[in-house]
Amino acid sequence: MKPELVLVGPMMPHVMEAMEEDFTVHRLWEAEDRDALLAEVGERVRAVGTSGNLGASAALMDALPNLEIVGCYGVGVDSIDLQHAAKRKVIVTNTPDVLNDDVANMAIALLLATSRRICVGDRYVRDGKWLKAAMPLTHSIRGKQLGILGLGRIGKDIAEKASAFGLELSYHGRRKQDDVSYRFFDNLVEMAENCDYLVAICPGGEATNNIVNRAVMDALGPEGVLINVARGTVVDEAELVLALQEGRLGGAGLDVFLEEPKVPEALFEMDQVVLQPHAASATVETRHAMGDLVVKNLRAHFAGQPVLTPVR
Ligand code: NAP
Ligand code: 8YV
Repeated sequence: MKPELVLVGPMMPHVMEAMEEDFTVHRLWEAEDRDALLAEVGERVRAVGTSGNLGASAALMDALPNLEIVGCYGVGVDSIDLQHAAKRKVIVTNTPDVLNDDVANMAIALLLATSRRICVGDRYVRDGKWLKAAMPLTHSIRGKQLGILGLGRIGKDIAEKASAFGLELSYHGRRKQDDVSYRFFDNLVEMAENCDYLVAICPGGEATNNIVNRAVMDALGPEGVLINVARGTVVDEAELVLALQEGRLGGAGLDVFLEEPKVPEALFEMDQVVLQPHAASATVETRHAMGDLVVKNLRAHFAGQPVLTPVR
């Protein structure tokens, strides 16, 4: 008998095929009545497959009394009720490291796209404006200060890549890391005062909710640029729109938003802003690796082995 699994949302076809080899998969997103499906199969279900954006609530876990494991497609687990999982002794796994390179690349891409006005230049050519006049000059990044909010697995990859572009690095987190040479700020506003670019790549959740607030944006200033590849909750979005409208903040490169896929329309008009649809890990290669890791974790658990990447 294959163990039964509730899949909250669709994953890449090869991932779903791999899951179906070892599990009886119940596709929650396809159910006309989700509660009815959960009531019908809930007792038998031992695993959940979900993603960073779909998460797993306490209510979902409680509809599955024999749940043993939640496999998350994504490294950020702020949408999974970890406290409830711990209380229920449900293992949670995620997909760290395999996405570092592409997520860091997106941070660098947004940094270059904002500083060099890549999207503005593209529109300039397409709209025929180049035929009439040269586009205004942009800014180089060499020698500029980059502050990283969250120097973890991805933050360190961003730092390494940014160093190659000649940026000077600093970071903010809850503690100083003894094995890195970048300048540490224990105060985020102070780091922002010393930055030209601020990249947010810390976890979402209560502890970081609106951590990039008006004071941080004002400290970054009219020439400063905010890059957010972390979570929409990390930045006070209403204040961000105001700061950009009023010119108190120079620009922004945003991959994540408060109410995805809804994005404040005020941002659509702004040339100093570059927008992405939460796509930092969205390459074929990385999404394959993430999917493989989800399946490997689930298989390991049901083979009686330790999971590869537990969330602790
Ligand atoms: P990680 O290795 O755990 O690093 C997280 C970093 O954030 C750590 O350096 C940590 O440093 C810092 N941090 C944690 N809590 C903090 C707080 N309250 N205040 C300030 N800093 C704090 O995680 P990761 O693998 O690099 O991933 C980071 C996050 O990126 C994920 O949780 C996810 O939300 C986001 N992400 C987004 C995308 C996307 O598609 N846009 C893709 C992947 C990941 P200290 O412990 O010293 O505080
Ligand atoms: C994914 C992410 O797009 O890993 C994360 O934390 O935000 C992204 O890699 C997301 O998990 C898929 O929903």
